[in-house]
Amino acid sequence: MSKNALITGITGQDGSYLTELLLSKGYHVHGIVRVSTNNRNNPNYLLLEKLRKRGEKIHLHSGDLSDSSRLTTLISAISPDEIYNLAAQSNVSFSFAEPKYTSDINAIGTLRILEAIRNLKFTSQTKLYHASTSELFGKAQESPQTETTPFYPRSPYAIAKLYSYWTVINYREAYDIFACNGILFNHESPRRGETFVTRKVTKALARIYFGLQDCLYLGNLNAKRDWGHARDYVEMQWLMLQQKFPDDYVIATGVQHSVRSFVEIAASELGLTIGWHGKDQTEVGIIEQIDSSLAQKCKIKPGQTIIRVDPQYYRPAEVENLLGNSQKAKNNLGWTPKTSFKNLVKEMIAHDLDQTRKDLLCKENGYET
Ligand code: NAP
Ligand code: GDD
Repeated sequence: MSKNALITGITGQDGSYLTELLLSKGYHVHGIVRVSTNNRNNPNYLLLEKLRKRGEKIHLHSGDLSDSSRLTTLISAISPDEIYNLAAQSNVSFSFAEPKYTSDINAIGTLRILEAIRNLKFTSQTKLYHASTSELFGKAQESPQTETTPFYPRSPYAIAKLYSYWTVINYREAYDIFACNGILFNHESPRRGETFVTRKVTKALARIYFGLQDCLYLGNLNAKRDWGHARDYVEMQWLMLQQKFPDDYVIATGVQHSVRSFVEIAASELGLTIGWHGKDQTEVGIIEQIDSSLAQKCKIKPGQTIIRVDPQYYRPAEVENLLGNSQKAKNNLGWTPKTSFKNLVKEMIAHDLDQTRKDLLCKENGYET
């Protein structure tokens, strides 16, 4: 018989990849979708709808992590074998502006799901994966970070996720629920939200390439992250729930790059070489060289300043340096990331170039995009 999975956050980056993975394994995939969101413009939602119309076993339900009774009703009706709690206010920067809302969704939202499992007496039938985060390490106390590295959260987002992390462990120990934390380092893809730095960069570079904008404004170029591919990371989310015992795992590539280096590598995919001048808020990225064989349709001129720093993108408290060691996942789950950093950037740039080219074509022909 097919297994039933329930995904919160199904319309997000990870939700869409996880849906594809679970469908390929024969699951019925149920997802919670917010009615307050305009999904008509969300490519991940449109992808789910396409799969559903094609006859795939996708079932979308309205709901919100702020609504306990709706969550309980849905979990009772679906009777899921596995719940993947991916829903969150996932933007760290935004969490400083909306700390209370972020806490309600990212902390109490997880508690609401665990309470539903407990009150429905589903403790021995429903497994829970929780989307924890490397942001728990924040001002990292050692490098690389492992499952035993002390936490030092640096944002309302991370503090709320720390509450969820311990609640998952507490419900596992107190009520014997099969509940796991995946402590995931940053993972990206062409489906990444456009406010996160990688996608902001690849999208803007594609637009600059076609002459649709002149310059990209960024915040802290020195921040370093361990960036992997979302498609690889959702595989681990599923694997964690297939084990004999529940546990918590760091998931990372073990390779680190700065934001500045991400920009350089993304630009090089377009045949552009960037030179950096100035420091901190006055730092700029200027085009030094254009590879004519790669950049045939490029509207950029040598000497053009395409990167500037805007302090509005600085955070009140920054996480400067994250690097993970996922040896435990390698040993216990047999998991290793498949996509290299270079190929991740390549895929994102190729996607955004293609998208921008289509948008341009529509514009030239007078169609709305
Ligand atoms: P994402 O693309 O931002 O997706 C977030 C999802 O949560 C969206 O489907 C969103 O729905 C939904 N959501 C937001 N508020 C909600 C609410 N009140 N009730 C129900 N659903 C709500 O995030 P992601 O990158 O896929 O990440 C998935 C999870 O992993 C998140 O919990 C994130 O914090 C965590 N995480 C991500 C990373 C990473 O690098 N990507 C690393 C570590 C941990 P709408 O479409 O309606 O907005
Ligand atoms: N978003 C953004 N925009 N970040 C910028 C910018 C900019 O213009 N300029 C520099 N940065 C820096 C941020 O200051 C941060 O240090 C780094 O780029 C990465 O920022 P994001 O891409 O917004 O991701 P994040 O690391 O804060 O959070 C993401 O990863 C976490 C896992 O560590 C999110 O997906 C979280 O939900 C996730 O938990």
